[in-house]
Formats: sequence, C-alpha cells, structure tokens
Amino acid sequence: MSPLSGRHIILGITGGIAAYKSVSLLRLLVKAGAEVQVVITPSGKEFITPVTLSALSHRPVVSEFFTANTGEWHSHVDLGLWADAMVVAPATACSIAKMAHGVADNMLITTYLSAKAPVFVAPAMDLDMMAHPSTQANIALLRSYGNHIIEPASGELASGLVGKGRMAEPEEIMAALELFFAQEIKGHALRGKRVLITAGPTYERIDPVRFIGNFSSGKMGYALAEEAAKAGAQVTLVSGPVSLRANHPSIQVVAVESARQMLAACQEAFPTTDIAIMCAAVADYAPAEYAERKIKREAGEAPVIHLVKNPDIAATLGAEKRPGQTLVGFALETDHEETNALDKMRRKHLDMIVMNSLQTPGAGFATDTNQVTIYSADGSTRQGELKSKTEVARDILQAIIREREEAEA
Ligand code: CTP
Repeated sequence: MSPLSGRHIILGITGGIAAYKSVSLLRLLVKAGAEVQVVITPSGKEFITPVTLSALSHRPVVSEFFTANTGEWHSHVDLGLWADAMVVAPATACSIAKMAHGVADNMLITTYLSAKAPVFVAPAMDLDMMAHPSTQANIALLRSYGNHIIEPASGELASGLVGKGRMAEPEEIMAALELFFAQEIKGHALRGKRVLITAGPTYERIDPVRFIGNFSSGKMGYALAEEAAKAGAQVTLVSGPVSLRANHPSIQVVAVESARQMLAACQEAFPTTDIAIMCAAVADYAPAEYAERKIKREAGEAPVIHLVKNPDIAATLGAEKRPGQTLVGFALETDHEETNALDKMRRKHLDMIVMNSLQTPGAGFATDTNQVTIYSADGSTRQGELKSKTEVARDILQAIIREREEAEA
C-alpha cells in the first residue's frame, strides 16, 4: 500500500506550460489512494482545463474565492487544515515570488498561507528566470520557511532553450511525497505534544572575533526536530550556531549563541513542554571575562584566558521537571561509556540517555550517520546499528513514545 493512501493532498497548479504534467501527477496521486483537492490559479486555467482536473480528482476544482453563480464561499482556512500536504506543481516564478512574500491575491496563495501541513514546491520556468537572483532568493526564502523544494531538472525547455528549469517529472514528485510519508512515525503519535530540542554547539565569546566552541553540526538535533514535527508535535528547536535549516512548519527555531542564552530559552519553553531532548553540545566552560576589543597579537605576553563553568542546562531542567514531563539527554563518550552515560542520567535526573561513542566510525559529530545505545531510567537498554541520523531520530522518538505509553498504562 502506498504511504499516500488516504492522505489529503492539495495539488496547487499555477500558470506554466508544465501544467500539463500535473494531470499525470494527479492521476498518480489518485491511483496511490490519496484524496486530492486541486486548487488552480486563474492563469493556470489558461494551460489546463478544470473539467479534466475535476473529472480525475472526483472533486470540483477550486480557483476563485467564491462560486459566481451560487455565491458559495471557498474557505482557504478549512482547506489548509484539511490537508496532510500541499504540492505546488508547477510553481512559476511569479507564484514562487507571491508565496515568498505573502502576496495573497488568489485562492492558491491564500491556501498556501493557511496551510498547516508541509508544502512541496516544484518550480518550472525558463532557464534565465530560474537563474535570476530574485527567483533564487525567493526559492531560498521558501526553503527558510520550511517548504520542500523539488528541484527542477536540466533539459530542453518549452522555449526551445536547454537548461535548468524543467519541472521534475510527476514520478519524481510522487517519490518525494511517498518518501516523506513513509518516514513518518505511525499514527501521528506526537499530535498535540510539545517537544523542546536543543541542537548544535554553543559559542562562548572571548573577544569580538573569537570564541570557544566545538565541532557539533546540529544534524542530530535537527533530524529529531523534523521527525518529531512529522509525528505531529509542536517543536521548539533551541539551536546554537549551525548552517542547517529546519524543514517543517511546526518547528519554531530559537537561535542562540551561548550556553547561558540556550538555558534562558529552554527555561522559557520548558514549563509547557511534554518532551525535552537535550541534543546540544553545550560548551562546559566560558571565558570569565569578555574583551570588548580584539585581543592584539603585539600586546606582549600571550594572553591567559580564565574560564568559568557554564550552567548545566539538562541538570537545571531535570531539577525543575514535573510528573508527565520526559527529559532525554545525550552522552558523547570516549571511554567508560556505559558507566559514564548511566551516571549522567542519574545526576541530571534524566528519563533516558542516548549514548554515542566517538570510537564508532561514522558516529558522532558532523557525519550523516550515527550509532547509539539508548538507556532508560527503568533499566532497559536499546542497542542500535549504524544508521542515518533521520532513522536514529525516529528510533529515539519511538523509544520515548513507548516509555510514555508504558508510564501512562
Ligand atoms: N548538557 C547541558 N548543559 C551543559 C552540558 C551538557 O544541557 N552545560 C547536556 C547535553 O546536551 C547532553 C548531556 O547534558 O544531553 C550530557 O552532555 P555531555 O557533554 O556528554 O556531559 P557533561 O555533563 O558536559 O559531562 P562531561 O563533559 O564531563 O562528559
């Protein structure tokens, strides 16, 4: 069975030649068992007729804010809530610009702005339009809002020119959607839950140009945030400086730099949090003093930097934890791994600790893979294999969900 079976999909069609391919996409979606509501822009109708689309989707196509002859109002808000995903294919340069800047002058854009579900955008345009800095900037904006961009291919374009701008084939768009839904944790198990995640390193400033930091990339924390959001959670992702973007509308990123800022952001979110996962590699020490001016090389003796201990965020939340809240930590160890991890779990009042060993090739900082062992406060241990960080994130969340279910039973 396709992971799209029974899913509610909004298919947004804008005015480009590639709209003819949307008919194949619609057929594939319906064949996979999805319920599809087509929303088409006025110029989209110049390229493909709503009759074809409504016949194939078994639903009236929505294009205007209301039906002229009956006065029936089409609620973009209801549509936005109904959808499990929205796909805009083709997305023209104009519609991409409107989506990026909230120019809500047609039903498709208002629906997009109301959508609570993940949005997939398949750009289609001529190569020069695609390459223009304004289009590139708008696509970057859409990405930064958490939208998924299904990259156009290079090839022959309707203009006769050859280059990048051809809409991804319907089969590729389907594959992206199927992958997304196949990877979900079943049954929206975290629907209505609030999840707090820390990610990345912290930077502790020495002077205006230097800091103490570490090699954490944030990949594990961002993968956790994304998988939790896909499972229905509202996620607050307190992130140290990283070069990653969160890809889901239910993730609220709180960008911080230092451990103290991270602690403040966590303490603000924690009282309303159901599950907190401390994935950040928090610097243990910070310079005791911050030099307002750059420390100069010629100033004589090499400087001595005195350090002070940073607050322990996990332990602080552990002390504030209420019944019903689940607090999960990570342990990155090089030796006496199990003993150290279990000791950390006790000291910080964690319910679970995820141990990754720096000795495992392919695990730890900056890699796309990880191998973890999950220890629970009740004494159970789950030993994982080397997997992608996305899969590891799912395993961790499944373990948390199971423990919470057992605790409630
Ligand atoms: N942690 C934290 N705040 C800190 C240090 C660590 O919240 N100031 C959290 C990490 O996010 C992780 C767990 O505590 O979930 C363990 O982090 P780790 O660096 O392994 O442990 P430390 O307590 O710093 O101990 P050590 O460095 O001595 O191994």
